Amino acid sequence: MRRKMVAGNWKMNMNFQEAEELLDELVDRLDKELEGHDVDVVVCPPAPYLEMAYDLGTSEEDENQVYFSVGAQNVNEHDKGAYTGEISASMLASMNVEYCIVGHSERRKYYAESNQQVARKVEILLQNEIVPIVCCGESLEERESGNHFKVIEKQLAESLFQLKPLDFARLVIAYEPVWAIGTGKTATPAEAQEVHAFIRNLIQEKYGKEMARQTTLLYGGSCNAATAPELFACPDIDGGLIGGASLKADDFIRIINAFE
Ligand code: 13P
Repeated sequence: MRRKMVAGNWKMNMNFQEAEELLDELVDRLDKELEGHDVDVVVCPPAPYLEMAYDLGTSEEDENQVYFSVGAQNVNEHDKGAYTGEISASMLASMNVEYCIVGHSERRKYYAESNQQVARKVEILLQNEIVPIVCCGESLEERESGNHFKVIEKQLAESLFQLKPLDFARLVIAYEPVWAIGTGKTATPAEAQEVHAFIRNLIQEKYGKEMARQTTLLYGGSCNAATAPELFACPDIDGGLIGGASLKADDFIRIINAFE
């Protein structure tokens, strides 16, 4: 279902103590300032901190009081077995992980993750009741050569459009132009909105109008407290996948507050 959402992708940052401090501060601020807010907040720390994030993000007095959901940054596409160093979807599910980022451009670039691999990861996550946050987006070269729509269409067609409607309905898509990630160069609201509308239209062509209307689409790439309000005001942008600015509680809270 379409929701307002802000997800923090910590990437490979923070030692254990720093992570604990940031999580504590987030809980404290969310408890005081954002009672009853209507935004799904997701924190995606490095894998060793997932359990701590779940424990700290759930109130000790009332386990129904959850300050944020916990997401992983990656998952292996196999069920289980001899894959040294890898983490399976069922392991994540058994640790109360509700979301998992898939197909991030850093994984595509540094670990050669293909659209086909993304498709398998999405399927195994859905089988384990974990919501995939599936990233797509073009490089600077692809944008400058005017190929960005084609690239995004291929990414979605090869990684998601094999899904049955009931499965597709459970995932979240994040548009993250590679040239905006970690560069301080946020896409303008007009640039981001144009691609989000394009993605919604692709979903409509494949799955129909209602599915397009109900899919949560996030923007990611140097989104911060200053740029979030204008981005989140765009009709087809439902929130953000936040990297650098999710590492400071104050910035992250301000981004959660950036919806009108
Ligand atoms: P930055 O917000 O640091 O640009 O990172 C965005 C991102 O890659 C989130 O997944």
